[in-house]
Amino acid sequence: MDVEHILSQMTLEEKAAFCSGGDFWHTKALERLGVPSVMMCDGPHGLRKQGAEADHLGINDSIKAVCFPTAAALAASFDRSLLHTLGEVLGEECQAEDVSMLLGPGLNIKRSPLCGRNFEYFSEDPYLAGQLAAAYVNGLQGKGIAACPKHFAANNQETLRMSGSSEVDERTLHEIYLSAFEDMVKESAPRSMMCSYNQINGVYASENRELLTEILRDQWGFDGFVVTDWGAGKDRVKGIAAGVDLEMPGRDNPEQVAKIVAAVQSGELPEEQLDQTVSRILTYIKGYMDGRRPEAQLDLETDHIRSVHASEECAVLLKNARDILPLSKEQRVAFLGDFARAPRYQGAGSSHINSHKVVGAVEAAQAAGLNVTFAQGYLAQTSEPNPDLLERAAECAKRADVAVIFAGLPDSYESEGFDRTSMAMPANQNALIEAVASVNPNTVVVLHNGSPVEMPWADQAAAILELYLGGEGVGEAAVDLLYGTANPSGKLAETFPIKLEDNPSFLNFPGEDGIVEYREGVFVGYRYYDKKKMAVRFPFGHGLSYTSFVYGDIQLDKAQLTDRESLTVTCKVKNTGTRLGKEVIQLYVRDEQSRVNRPVRELKGFEKVELAPGEEKTVSFTLGKKAFAYYEPKIHDWFVESGTFTIEIGSSSRDIRLAAQVTVEGTVTLPVHFTEFSTFGQILATPKGQTLIGHIFQKFSAGAAGQHGDIEADAAGMQTMQSMMMDMTLDAVSKFIGMTDEQISGILAELN
Ligand code: BGC
Repeated sequence: MDVEHILSQMTLEEKAAFCSGGDFWHTKALERLGVPSVMMCDGPHGLRKQGAEADHLGINDSIKAVCFPTAAALAASFDRSLLHTLGEVLGEECQAEDVSMLLGPGLNIKRSPLCGRNFEYFSEDPYLAGQLAAAYVNGLQGKGIAACPKHFAANNQETLRMSGSSEVDERTLHEIYLSAFEDMVKESAPRSMMCSYNQINGVYASENRELLTEILRDQWGFDGFVVTDWGAGKDRVKGIAAGVDLEMPGRDNPEQVAKIVAAVQSGELPEEQLDQTVSRILTYIKGYMDGRRPEAQLDLETDHIRSVHASEECAVLLKNARDILPLSKEQRVAFLGDFARAPRYQGAGSSHINSHKVVGAVEAAQAAGLNVTFAQGYLAQTSEPNPDLLERAAECAKRADVAVIFAGLPDSYESEGFDRTSMAMPANQNALIEAVASVNPNTVVVLHNGSPVEMPWADQAAAILELYLGGEGVGEAAVDLLYGTANPSGKLAETFPIKLEDNPSFLNFPGEDGIVEYREGVFVGYRYYDKKKMAVRFPFGHGLSYTSFVYGDIQLDKAQLTDRESLTVTCKVKNTGTRLGKEVIQLYVRDEQSRVNRPVRELKGFEKVELAPGEEKTVSFTLGKKAFAYYEPKIHDWFVESGTFTIEIGSSSRDIRLAAQVTVEGTVTLPVHFTEFSTFGQILATPKGQTLIGHIFQKFSAGAAGQHGDIEADAAGMQTMQSMMMDMTLDAVSKFIGMTDEQISGILAELN
């Protein structure tokens, strides 16, 4: 395909029609010019390839495919290579099924534990979300399949997702909600991007030129095409002008074509802009055709095994009192709860996979010849406790050495399209855990949920294993993890607060009258809990192992640097236990002093390493400018303030093992403009201000403080006076000391 040639042969009407799809999942074909129609599919954690009965809510069936762990689980792996491999596997499946683009990954930030779609998103932390998304995109695109990261942007809830406005200040928008997208674009060059349904500060994403052109293309260098979320397109002329290339789903729409044609003819929409849009879509189709490998095969059995392995990498061991886990084959074990039989392993909505095979934990344990009994305990689809089921489960638990309860959230609690209203688990499941824990102190809780839950029973459970929505292999993975064939190595990619009300978005979620104000600003997740020094149930980055790790020897390659240089940090980690295991080493950065309100620590690096017993490895991190910067609206860019920064290395955000300091010099100066209403403090903060008004400040404060003959009292008086005066404006001071307007203008002219 010669994109330029094809474009030159297209009529204006053909071009106008081409920027909408041909049907629910395909682009339009242009047979006259040899352009094929290509297919796109959901995504993100498996292939949802539908036939004629198409829908975007996961209602109608799709082909049988392997359901891999959802993003919430994958994020807990903290493992770029796992995400890269998953991207490759999905890319191969797409090649086998002739799918040109997979609609994912979803990398919106988890602002509230209630967002119905949290299971499809990675983290509350933008660095982690961006890194994992980039790895997935690189893997997928390496197989010749376009990724379509979504939902751009500030789509952090389902309530009124198609019409509401996310009201976010500029710093917060860039620092938290756009940052993951920015990193991902720069590190993986996705061929596409999906704009979200919602408005951002009153402008629909699909008509948002600032977002889709100025930020995405001009600032970040994105060179793919933008597709609307399904049905998110509004006025197509405005959309094309804003930077939206393809509207999905598509159909023959002569009225819309006529509008675009008229806009070009009247000069409202420059034809070059329409050409650019068409050219981007053609480039994507060409990219797919060039990399097409029809010989690729769908190998569901192999991919199922990969799914089991992936699920194991994502498991987070939250608690393990008395080293109750792993279990041994000799123990009598009771598996309790409906989810032990049929695990909840994926969420509802457009990501729903028609799974090829799901093996429950009970079946997997029996197949492995383990000594396991089972009682249902609760009915997954209801919430009310059933006394009969509870009693039988408690009886079963009494006869066992260890009781393992499989619990979590039912399908009806978490889905695309609506948010949760509470963080509580169903009453029947909480009742089961409490009933069992009261008769057997060796109670282990295995969780299947897409988002944090309240755990009123956390102290009674001896161990808690979080499996999230771990894909179709999660039942088999659970058995491997419980019995130690696999060693848990996941870490929480989000904080588990004690209760919903602790969450920083609580008072402003999901907003009122379609407006949701992100008033907590940059203090999302652990950034908030750490700043407030709050107790949490389980902190960001937390996760235990069946072995233990010792950290040491932190080294920085420089004691000071500028924001144009990078810093290399290394440390050593040793497996001091008796089992092979993996540890996620996390690096956090703190600005020790800042003119703006900054978090106590922010994740800026992580590495996952595998260590045999006794083995030690050196881990290395490279920190560039963004690791030290905050987003400064005055310059609409990332900005580093000169000063001391602390580098912390830990096993979780609240288990910091090593720390060192470094001095960073910022090379950008913020623009300043002084007026007569600038204060002494603001002016004296600059060297020029010191020279120009330092003496006035000294004289005026000495005069105001007065002399009382007691040296110490006089010094204290002077200090109090100076503190009071720091916030006095030049204008006010001039009235006390009789400065003329001319003198003030002179000072300001010098300063500015
Ligand atoms: C969802 C997208 C999805 C699309 C197509 C929309 O409702 O928000 O994530 O890719 O449908 O199914």
